Amino acid sequence: MSDQPSIINNVSTQFQEQFNRSPSVIVAAPGRVNLIGGHIDYNDGFVLPMALDRKVVIAADIKEGKKSSNLYSCRFESMAEIPLECTRTPHTSEWYTYVEGVLAQCKAQGIEIPAFDALIYSDVPVGGGLSSSAALEVATATLVEAITGNRFEQAQKALLCQEAEHRYAGVPCGIMDQFSSVFGKVNALMLLDCQSQELKHIPFAGESLVVLITNTNVSHNLGDGEYKKRRVQCDGALKKIGASSWREVSLKDLETSRSLLSSIEYNRAHHVVTEIERTIQASEAFINQDWLRAGSLITDSHNSLRDHYDVSCVELNTLVDILNELGVDQGVYGARMTGGGFGGCTVSLVKADSVATVQKTLHQRYAEKTGIQANSFISRPAQGAQVLQNRLLTK
Ligand code: GLA
Repeated sequence: MSDQPSIINNVSTQFQEQFNRSPSVIVAAPGRVNLIGGHIDYNDGFVLPMALDRKVVIAADIKEGKKSSNLYSCRFESMAEIPLECTRTPHTSEWYTYVEGVLAQCKAQGIEIPAFDALIYSDVPVGGGLSSSAALEVATATLVEAITGNRFEQAQKALLCQEAEHRYAGVPCGIMDQFSSVFGKVNALMLLDCQSQELKHIPFAGESLVVLITNTNVSHNLGDGEYKKRRVQCDGALKKIGASSWREVSLKDLETSRSLLSSIEYNRAHHVVTEIERTIQASEAFINQDWLRAGSLITDSHNSLRDHYDVSCVELNTLVDILNELGVDQGVYGARMTGGGFGGCTVSLVKADSVATVQKTLHQRYAEKTGIQANSFISRPAQGAQVLQNRLLTK
């Protein structure tokens, strides 16, 4: 379901089946893949993601005079009811917690949202490190804009969604996922300075190179707890080094402070300091269309996430190893894990004319080594959140 008219038709038909009328509003928000800058958005670093052409689409219609909204998830084939007052205890692991969290944050900002029926469709893999939850949050905030006429300032919209993730899903994520889903641009990567929140779009329009995303199809479920631990370890290390931001810390400073840190803290800090530098260098390599350099920095990033930050797993390493064995001769410039880690996806830079063969070999060798079937897809950098249809405006 990729082109816009077929998306609109498909969700409209499904909405009609669930709610016996047509939707007045249809909105969409994409998932993202991060090319480099792993686990440094919450460490004042830089990240280099792009929005995917896979997204969450919500079709909805207002229902006057009701006290709760109904949400239908096509993926989970499940209906949820969200009371308008949004006072339920957060932190549930239910799929609708992301929607409820955003509605609650909007309400906390004084936005009155009428009750609505909504159908949620998504082709962003869940648990793949591709920000399916941020896409759902940003799609919800975009729906709120469409049905209330209230327009958020775009960065504020991303931050509101991040807050919903913190409070309702209990994940202390950085700003990358929600910013990517809001600010995505066709044929551009986003260099996001997570300290100043300044964003620079970097053209990525060539036909000769593709971004290949491969799902290990495992999720080790360590994610959230380990994620929080990494944040604590980094904050602790920074304090011991005596700096107020990782941006002030050079590799030389780190070596000077080494004796103050535990070996785990040293390793985490090593990743953060080197990854900040790698991400800046990679953005320059992309600007210069130097794919060899960009690819080798991406592979270095994986090695650091695996050895120093310890957020990879056997399956991710297996995919990256196979891609590296293929190497530039067979069309692969570089590969790394993407997202939170402990399963999920890898991202790799591959020559367009080699990609079909790379996918075939990768799936085959991965299945031989792990007994698991991987799947992969190519994505162009895509548009951020948008309203696809709004009949309320013409009423
Ligand atoms: C998750 C978080 C992001 C980021 C990545 C790791 O996706 O939601 O904020 O920290 O992990 O780069």
